[in-house]
Amino acid sequence: MFTSCTSPERDLVKTTGDLFLAGTETTSTTIAWALLFFLHHPEVQDKCYKELCDVIGTGRLPSMQDKPEMTYLEATTMEVLRKGEIAPFAVQHSTPHDVTFQGYVIPQDAVILPNLDSVLLDKETWGDPDNFRPERFIGLDGKIVKPEGFIPFSIGRRVCLGESLARMELFLYLSTLIQRFRFLPPEQETLPPLEGVMGITYCPKSYKIRAIPRE
Ligand code: HEM
Repeated sequence: MFTSCTSPERDLVKTTGDLFLAGTETTSTTIAWALLFFLHHPEVQDKCYKELCDVIGTGRLPSMQDKPEMTYLEATTMEVLRKGEIAPFAVQHSTPHDVTFQGYVIPQDAVILPNLDSVLLDKETWGDPDNFRPERFIGLDGKIVKPEGFIPFSIGRRVCLGESLARMELFLYLSTLIQRFRFLPPEQETLPPLEGVMGITYCPKSYKIRAIPRE
């Protein structure tokens, strides 16, 4: 996340910063979006729970060995990453020298903000980008499909370093939460809006939720 380091102490501070900023905020924001989408799409939450009961049951905790069997949860997580677009402008980059791209000259040291949002919500790629529809990531053969436009972790040489860790964390947290709780909106209150606020990440506006322990 940061520029070059000059001493072991500075290395330590920067690496710790990476773990907290890049490694914690991102995953927790994705989980906050997932639970908010569950409130708006109870049928998706129910399908995830049914899959969990079929594959794991309730007698033991989920483990990474279960992940390949949990296609619907994987597709739901991908849809949360797409529609939640928690890092819409990825991370700032700059050009080390003048670059000519598609006829435009981008001068040395220009600040570049990749617009991931424009790809994750592109109508041509997704057809119905505004709908929350995990099924779009499941092929006719029942396996996960990953369209080229699925780039919540960005793309290229500076793609998120923590993608595989994040995907492990998301699987373990979400599957355990779904196994233990049913998530519902607060009683006698309107559904919290699917609206976000741009900070370090694009996170949902603070919302209330009921977590009902499963039997
Ligand atoms: C859902 C979770 C996450 C999302 C959506 C996410 C997304 C991103 C994005 C979009 C970038 C910018 C890539 C670019 O510059 O084009 C990035 C960079 C980075 N991420 Fe993540 N990230 C997540 C979790 C994590 C985790 C868990 C870690 C580490 C523990 C991590 C470490 C990093 C680092 C070190 C970079 C900078 C890579 C570089 O500049 O070379 N991320 N991430």
